[in-house]
Amino acid sequence: MRGAGYYSERTAGARDVINDAGTMVIQALAEIPKTEGLRLADFGAADGGTSREMWKRVIGHCRENGDSRQIEMLYTDLASNDFSTLFRMMQGMQGDRNHAYQNQYDNVFVHGCGTGFHQQLMADCSLNLGFSATAMHYVSEKPMEIPAHVHVACADPASQMAYASQAARDWENILLARAAELIPGGRFICLNFGIDEQGRYLGNTGGKHMFEHFHKFWRALFEDGTITADEYERASFAQYYRRMDEFCAPFGDPSSPVSKAGLRLKSAHSKLTKCPYEAAFLSAGGVGGEMSNLDYADSLIPTMRSWSETVFRTALQGREADDCAAIINRFYDAYRDAVAADPSGHAMDYIHIVLDIEKAR
Ligand SMILES: C[S@@+](CC[C@H](N)C(=O)[O-])C[C@H]1O[C@@H](n2cnc3c(N)ncnc32)[C@H](O)[C@@H]1O
Repeated sequence: MRGAGYYSERTAGARDVINDAGTMVIQALAEIPKTEGLRLADFGAADGGTSREMWKRVIGHCRENGDSRQIEMLYTDLASNDFSTLFRMMQGMQGDRNHAYQNQYDNVFVHGCGTGFHQQLMADCSLNLGFSATAMHYVSEKPMEIPAHVHVACADPASQMAYASQAARDWENILLARAAELIPGGRFICLNFGIDEQGRYLGNTGGKHMFEHFHKFWRALFEDGTITADEYERASFAQYYRRMDEFCAPFGDPSSPVSKAGLRLKSAHSKLTKCPYEAAFLSAGGVGGEMSNLDYADSLIPTMRSWSETVFRTALQGREADDCAAIINRFYDAYRDAVAADPSGHAMDYIHIVLDIEKAR
């Protein structure tokens, strides 16, 4: 993710998805056996800005209902994450101070962990509730570069198979790690990007297809000689959108390592969250309304850029910084110009698979 708060400032959709899950988290906390202290974790939290309101609501709910336990809040992400921005946000030094819950409640201790969530990150049986939003579609490593596309959801069968088996191994590791960390009766709530029953996924929900556009504009840079064949091919997202059956598979088999580790699936459902930037444009009257097409494009493209830019930037590794920045800007400008020319159908709707997982008591 881009650092310095760029991610959460431009990702209203991800924040909305997390805020909607607040009730589920509060409900789960009420059902978890009471321990002396309360340890919470947010896996793949980026700069923490998108989940701050939700955690403030959850912690506020605890305190208002007489739960005065010490709370340890562990934010996890990759070592490369901008944890400095995260800590600044929590202490009210950046972003909206109203959501800086660390300042507002006593006995709340905020920590960061820069180890990937495919590994165990906490001591055995020490986590009451784990949460993760929009993060576990990242695979631990790319099994291969995707030859003629940027995303496996649109790729050839061989690439799809390679990414699917990597994602299955990763999912098992994620679950086994959480099984070790959770206390008996603890919960893991995760909102993962995935493919729903209608075959829809992020940016592909019936309108214009976001990943096809990424590929089109990236390929155009190769065809006009701006980038090399290697650079064209290296832009593969290290992601896989699992289907419901892939998420549920480890729980359906009583002899699977995940079932034996004591995890069970309490519920699973898919959820569509409409693109807030498109909603704002449409409520301003759409094309010909109060918001210009260009203003709409200028609001939509940064939300896509906040999480995708790193893929294209990495593909250009080895170039001078200015050269790289110019190419990246040209790439996103091409997408922005296409949206401004004809905004209809351009949006970034979210599709999540929402899972509520419990460790046996
Ligand atoms: C799209 S952001 C989501 C951030 C936030 N949870 C939200 O919903 O807005 C995905 C985050 O997952 C992190 N991530 C990717 N792979 C990871 C891994 N193996 N371990 C921990 N975090 C990871 C990325 O660095 C990024 O910060």
